[in-house]
Amino acid sequence: MDDVDLVRSRVDIVQLISDRVQLRRTGQNWTGLCPFHDDKNPSFTVSPKTGWYRCWSCGAKGDCFTWVMETQKLEFREALQHLATQVGVELKSQRPSVDSGERESRTRLMALAQTFFREAFAKSTQAQDYIRNRGLTPEIIDQWEIGYAPDANDVLAHRIKAQGFSLEMAKELFLVDAGAGGFYDKFRGRIMFPIRDERGQLVAFGGRLLADGHPKYINSSDTPLFSKRRVLYGLHQARDVIAKSRRAILVEGYLDVISCHRAGLSESVASLGTALGEDHARLLKRWVDEVVILYDADPAGQKAAARAAEILAAAGLRTAIAVLPPGSDPDTLLQQQGPAGLHQAVQNGMEPLDFEFRQLEARLAPDDREYWDEVVAILAQSHRPLEVERHIVRLAGKYPDLRDPIAAQRALHQLVRAAQKELRRKARPAAAGSNSAGSTPDRAAKGRIHLDAREAVVFRACLDEELRPVVWPRLSDDSLWITGIGARLAAAWASLGECPGGPAAGFLGHLDDVELTDEILALEEHTSLPVTLPTLQEALDGLEKRREQRAVVELRTQGDRSDATLDEISARLKRLKNIDSSPES
Ligand code: UTP
Ligand code: MN
Repeated sequence: MDDVDLVRSRVDIVQLISDRVQLRRTGQNWTGLCPFHDDKNPSFTVSPKTGWYRCWSCGAKGDCFTWVMETQKLEFREALQHLATQVGVELKSQRPSVDSGERESRTRLMALAQTFFREAFAKSTQAQDYIRNRGLTPEIIDQWEIGYAPDANDVLAHRIKAQGFSLEMAKELFLVDAGAGGFYDKFRGRIMFPIRDERGQLVAFGGRLLADGHPKYINSSDTPLFSKRRVLYGLHQARDVIAKSRRAILVEGYLDVISCHRAGLSESVASLGTALGEDHARLLKRWVDEVVILYDADPAGQKAAARAAEILAAAGLRTAIAVLPPGSDPDTLLQQQGPAGLHQAVQNGMEPLDFEFRQLEARLAPDDREYWDEVVAILAQSHRPLEVERHIVRLAGKYPDLRDPIAAQRALHQLVRAAQKELRRKARPAAAGSNSAGSTPDRAAKGRIHLDAREAVVFRACLDEELRPVVWPRLSDDSLWITGIGARLAAAWASLGECPGGPAAGFLGHLDDVELTDEILALEEHTSLPVTLPTLQEALDGLEKRREQRAVVELRTQGDRSDATLDEISARLKRLKNIDSSPES
């Protein structure tokens, strides 16, 4: 058992959640008012058996770690540490090692570089002129800790060496590089933007050339302190504001962030030299419910905005896309129109589908075949069913093949559903177990999966720590299952190998199929009677009986009267008799 499983198996999820939510026992579960949305009727359930909590209304769900991450705004590592301390587990990674010394040296080395860039800025009139021309005041320069990397070969490298730090470590941190003539500085002749993670730790730098040239910006690549997929520039300055407003503004560049903050939009953050990804979306989801995307008005920016909107929506965030005047970005808009221009743009943010249709309608007309192909593709990808509906109604009147708008609506619905099915089919093999943020939040509204009642008992038994070893070996018997879903579930669980110990949340988290996992949890939480050994036995017997009966019927209808077939029929009939007379049933 690794640290994570060990901690999870020791945490009492009901007790943990009771610290914040008043829970009442209902059958095997506990229920209360959901802390993640404004809940009127208790729609929040906690299952001690599975180790998961879930809200039927807003879709919030997870295990003890997700709970601590969400409620205390912690990273996974921190949540693990927090819970480990509570339940008295000493984490392997925390045991004294060279590691912690190394981390401290890295942090000190980054601080040294930052001091160096700040000093260089204070000395360089060229850098100060540039920044002043871009409209930044001394207060803003200090607030964002803007620095300068001198246009020299190895001044920083020298400083690092003189202070007794390892140049190899500096190389790892993207401060220097090794060349034929020794170590040289990575950033030269650039305005320096220190990048802090959401806790304010200095983790990377971005540097902009003073003049035109290429590349305009250099950003630290991933280092032991920095993963660009997980850091948003400005988040640590924005975090208190966005935690209150529950909204963030997403822009493209360093100076866009700074300009927005200057204009009073202190909810602004940017991804760094990389497109917004799922990790960024998850990071934002911990703080906000809504994101306004304010990307550059050029075609690349607009395309990136649509993509970012999709990723954010998939993480369960509401999104709006603000459209800027042609040729501008938030920074230039501030120069041209002042804060009012920026506020206006944010206020006029468009629903992502409206935005995409606007883009589409600028390129194609309803007479074009591709127009409808794209309409269907856009609608199929949306995570907003009501918006999709609105657009189908709106577009039905323009549908060229069918005059009757109702018939056109039906046709569009069908096309969209087919495209969605295709998307799901494509997404399935790629869906990772950890990727539960991507599943639909309105699960509760959907029907339950159709498992045979006996299959359901078997799978529920797998969630139970005591019954699991009894039933686990049977999962790999693929002749046992009646429904396709049953067979898929059994195969998925069996593929994990030998019977996992601990709360079900541990092994469920390793499964690829998020949707099925979710359904089985739902099933467990909606059934108030626990599975007992006799009911399990009965279910297994029932499944076996059914298999034998079917086999006999099949063999008989084949009309094959060979000895082998007749023997098999009688063997199966005997097995059936045995099942019937076994003491449990
Ligand atoms: P932009 O080209 O829009 O730059 O790139 P900008 O932020 O408006 O900067 P100014 O106003 O010209 O100084 C947006 C963001 O993309 C990344 C940077 O993070 C930049 O802020 N980028 C851009 C790079 O990483 N490398 C580049 O060469 C260019
Ligand atoms: Mn820009």
